[in-house]
Amino acid sequence: MTSLETGAAFLREFVRRPTQIGAVAPSSDALARAMVHGMDWERARVVVECGPGTGAFTSRVLERLRPETRFFAVEVNETCARELKRRHPELAIHRACVSDLAAICRAAGVPAVDLVISGLPWAAFGDEGQARFLGAIHDALRPGGQFATFAYSHAARLPAGRRFRRLLTKTFAEVSRSRSVWRNLPPAFVYRCRK
Ligand SMILES: C[S@@+](CC[C@H](N)C(=O)[O-])C[C@H]1O[C@@H](n2cnc3c(N)ncnc32)[C@H](O)[C@@H]1O
Repeated sequence: MTSLETGAAFLREFVRRPTQIGAVAPSSDALARAMVHGMDWERARVVVECGPGTGAFTSRVLERLRPETRFFAVEVNETCARELKRRHPELAIHRACVSDLAAICRAAGVPAVDLVISGLPWAAFGDEGQARFLGAIHDALRPGGQFATFAYSHAARLPAGRRFRRLLTKTFAEVSRSRSVWRNLPPAFVYRCRK
C-alpha cells in the first residue's frame, strides 16, 4: 500500500467511524517528531502507543527504542490495526480499547509503563470517555512516567479542548505544551505530561 492508499484507507475509516478516528488524515512526520521529543528513551523499559492508527508516529517511536525496551500498541479499529501490522510486522498490536490497558499490561507481565504516546482523538470523546481513557493511561504509568498526546491548535480553545486541558492538569503532576506544528493538517501541538 502506498502512503496515498494508506491515507485513503484512513479517510474511509473516518467516514465510517468519525468519533473513533477523529481526524481525516494521518498526522505528519513533523508532528511525529514533536511527539517523541523530550521523552526519556534511554531509561524507558516499557513503551506503549495508544491509538496508533496506521502508524504515523510508530516509525519515530521504533527508531528511538533501545533493543531491550518492550513496545506494544493498543488500537481499537480493525482496519487500522491490520494496516499497522502490514507496515510493522514485528510490532505487538493489541486490538483493544485503551480502557483495557491494565488487563493488557497484566497479561503481558508488565507492572508499570515508562512512556505512553497517544494518538487518541480526545476532542471526539465525551467527558466520561476522556476521564476513563486518561485514567487508564495514568494508572498504567509508573510514578514519574511520561505521557505525550496531541491536540489541534484551532480546537484547543473550544469547550472540549479546554475541558481536556483541565483534565490533564488535574490528572498529571506536570503538563506543558509544545509550540504549534504548522506542518500538519490541521496544525497541532503536543501536550507533554509527567505522572
Ligand atoms: C486521530 S487517529 C490518530 C492516528 C495516528 N496516531 C495519527 O496521528 O495519524 C485516532 C486513533 O485512535 C484510535 N482509537 C480511538 N478510540 C480508541 C480507543 N478507545 N482505544 C484504542 N484506540 C482508539 C482510532 O481507531 C484511531 O486509529
